Amino acid sequence: MRHPVLRLSDQALRSADQAIGFLMQQAVENADCISLAAGLVDEQTLPVDLVRETVGKVLAESGSGSRLLQYGTTQGPEPLRRVFREYLAELEQRTDRLSDLPLSQLFLTTGSQQLLALLAQALFNPGDICLVAAPTYFVFLGVLQAVGADIVPVTADGFGMCPAALRETLSRLEQEGRLSRVRLVYVVSDFENPSGVSVSAERRPQLLSLAREFSRESRIFLLEDAAYRELRYDGVSPASIWSFDRDRETVILAQTFSKSFSPGIRVGLGVVPQSLVKPLSDLKGNEDFESAHLNQHVVARALKDRTYHQHVQRVRDNYRIKRDAMLEAADREFGGLPGVSWYRPEGGMYVWMRLPDSVPTGFQSAMFRRATQVDKVMYVPGELCYPQDWPARPRSEMRLSFGVQSPDGIREGMRRLASSVRWALETGG
Ligand SMILES: Cc1ncc(COP(=O)(O)O)c(C=O)c1O
Repeated sequence: MRHPVLRLSDQALRSADQAIGFLMQQAVENADCISLAAGLVDEQTLPVDLVRETVGKVLAESGSGSRLLQYGTTQGPEPLRRVFREYLAELEQRTDRLSDLPLSQLFLTTGSQQLLALLAQALFNPGDICLVAAPTYFVFLGVLQAVGADIVPVTADGFGMCPAALRETLSRLEQEGRLSRVRLVYVVSDFENPSGVSVSAERRPQLLSLAREFSRESRIFLLEDAAYRELRYDGVSPASIWSFDRDRETVILAQTFSKSFSPGIRVGLGVVPQSLVKPLSDLKGNEDFESAHLNQHVVARALKDRTYHQHVQRVRDNYRIKRDAMLEAADREFGGLPGVSWYRPEGGMYVWMRLPDSVPTGFQSAMFRRATQVDKVMYVPGELCYPQDWPARPRSEMRLSFGVQSPDGIREGMRRLASSVRWALETGG
């Protein structure tokens, strides 16, 4: 039987052809490669025993256990939000336990990705503008594309998004009569995916001030995505951008327990301005009523028992070794190669490598084919991490993840990758 024509929504159509889709397909097609592409967390660090014990504890303690298998509330039960607020206070080094932060401004979400997606739905009509660091987290670029946002890149360097460039971009948009369309500035504050860069302490309040200063015709929010905040291997953590937002009406803080604990458990923590509580809660209610109730209890209990804290320390120790293995391999294998440079991250899961402009790294490039088909190693092409319709986007970068491979796997992957890069430099890519 012939079916009548399928008519999809504009949002569904705009969601097609996204970078994450290409990447997953490449991962499947190149399953025999050493993957320095996958952004998954290290399986060895996943807290299987701890979760088993904690599930047992929380089910036993809540009486029959049935309460935790029942529906909860859209933003997460208040007693749990209190536990998460205390944890945030620890990260923020606030001795007052952040007790002045109303629990109504806290959201327990399905990973932090859900908050990112809800926020995009709450703020953007097609043609509204989001300013993003260049490069940035490519999955959020897909979310913005799906809601029809106009994505405007802002220059970033080794200290994060440049305040001078943000000012220049906002001023230009004002001159063009488009300032009223700007809704959001998106910043991954710690060990950015993909660049590994953190926004410097000095720049944090400056970015916030600019969002405020240019909120002339309509409100410009700043989304601080702190997904990798707890994965610091050396140095000291600067205060969050959120901590400078005295009236808490500009910054939305998105955190997650995916990287530090378990992505499968899907628990994220959002802190949002009071004015966004209702719109986000309405949208979340439509989407899922609430995030997985039992999982929130498990993470809250691990936080209360401080078994979470011990776990994160082990996770950090594990990733520090792997980060060092990748940087040592980079020095050894790529050290003498002309025009090749990389950033040394203090945390997170990625090393960002730049090749000469003459060597494109995209899926269609000779370099990508050589790496995946001859040397059997895979990376994420850097161009995915810029707005797709930006003509000036750099095309010769690579995101290398030290998340999933063992130190030996990382060393071998880097040896193979260097062989492809040497080939590309010799043959002109
Ligand atoms: C920068 C950044 N933000 C948000 C997320 C979303 O992760 P989750 O939904 O598991 O919290 C990720 C995942 O890789 C990420 O890299």
